[in-house]
Amino acid sequence: MDDVLIKILAIETSCDETAAAVIEAKGGKSQPHFKILSNIVSSQIKIHRPYGGVVPNLAKRSHQRNLVPVLKKTLEEAKLLKKNPKSKIRNPKQIQNTKYKILNTILEREEILKPKVIQFLKKYQTPKINLIAVTRGPGLAPALWPGVNFAKALAYFWQKPIIGINHLEGHILANWLKNIPNTKYQIPNTKISFPIVSLIVSGGHTQLVLMKDLGKYKLIGETRDDAAGECFDKVARILGLGYPGGPAIAAAAAKFRIKNSQLRIKLPRPMINTKDYDFSFSGLKTAVLYLVKNIEKTQKMTAASRSAIAAECQQAVIDVLISKTLRAAKNFHAKTVILAGGVAANKELRRQFVEKINKELPTVIVRLPLAKFCTDNASMIAAAAYFHTLKKDFTDWEKLTADANLRLI
Ligand code: KG4
Ligand code: ZN
Repeated sequence: MDDVLIKILAIETSCDETAAAVIEAKGGKSQPHFKILSNIVSSQIKIHRPYGGVVPNLAKRSHQRNLVPVLKKTLEEAKLLKKNPKSKIRNPKQIQNTKYKILNTILEREEILKPKVIQFLKKYQTPKINLIAVTRGPGLAPALWPGVNFAKALAYFWQKPIIGINHLEGHILANWLKNIPNTKYQIPNTKISFPIVSLIVSGGHTQLVLMKDLGKYKLIGETRDDAAGECFDKVARILGLGYPGGPAIAAAAAKFRIKNSQLRIKLPRPMINTKDYDFSFSGLKTAVLYLVKNIEKTQKMTAASRSAIAAECQQAVIDVLISKTLRAAKNFHAKTVILAGGVAANKELRRQFVEKINKELPTVIVRLPLAKFCTDNASMIAAAAYFHTLKKDFTDWEKLTADANLRLI
């Protein structure tokens, strides 16, 4: 099984990115190698920007509109899109035979998506893939369902096995991906040894997870209120820096110059000294809100004051994240420490994470995903699916459901 080359098509719609990817995997659990044949991400940022956050029903509609074009592009780039020579594209409303009737049932609640899928399936041949993987949670239910139903429709029509994947497992597994141009298979640059302590930081989650092996997860701590990414998004809104907040805070913080700053700001580092592995970031957002109100009593907020607050807020989040990760790595005798999730794209977090862990735990391996695999994508879902394939964890497509609150353990 380990030598068998497997081609996986993955679909991800847990939030505001419609993503699909095809990867080739081989090597088994001991020496996994991944080659990314295509990795397409269609962002809905422009749609949600006027609202300052993701609007679930707009995300649902956008996923329904985007899924077929994204799949087409993904298969095309992977050189897997071939027209069906015998196809006669009929009006989907006239489709009667059983196979199409079942498709109609699977896609019953995806009104915009349904005709697009049926037309696509009539026009193109079954691609040469071995299995379909799809994110089944956690995420926004209205966003997850179109992806899950789409994957179910493809699995049923093409008669392919399907696996439902936990989005957070995908974020962790992004650390096993690396796309080096001109090399056939990526080889991990440093071996990943267990136990692993993994810090997941995204828009919806902030968790510390202990991994004794691939697929064996133990949640050791998590945020009691806002996630780190959510904190950045809310603080960016308070500062009028735009959406999405994480990159906006990072950009404003990068402009901060200590010497020129008139402002002396100190924000709290919530729960930094507690003896657990939990986090809390909502107080940080409230502290920024009061700080801004205070400043505005006597002066106008300037670009310089926004940068100063962004830099201090970013540093407060980084300090707490790294401090708790170090504590967990020491107490659980981690051999590898991993960073994962959208916030892992933050350059300052990446730099300080590596620097501090290398300094305090020089024998521990530190792994970060490539920046493009930190934020939501489908390659990470495919990588996670590969390890489930080895265990034959296939799901019956009829039983596959989305689960907005899916836990890792
Ligand atoms: O993992 P992700 O793409 O989606 C979720 O699963 O939530 O993470 C999105 C989060 C958002 O809160 C966004 O503001 C944050 O990741 N983010 C960043 C950066 N890029 C994205 N936060 C800080 N610095 C960044 N460069
Ligand atoms: Zn995510």
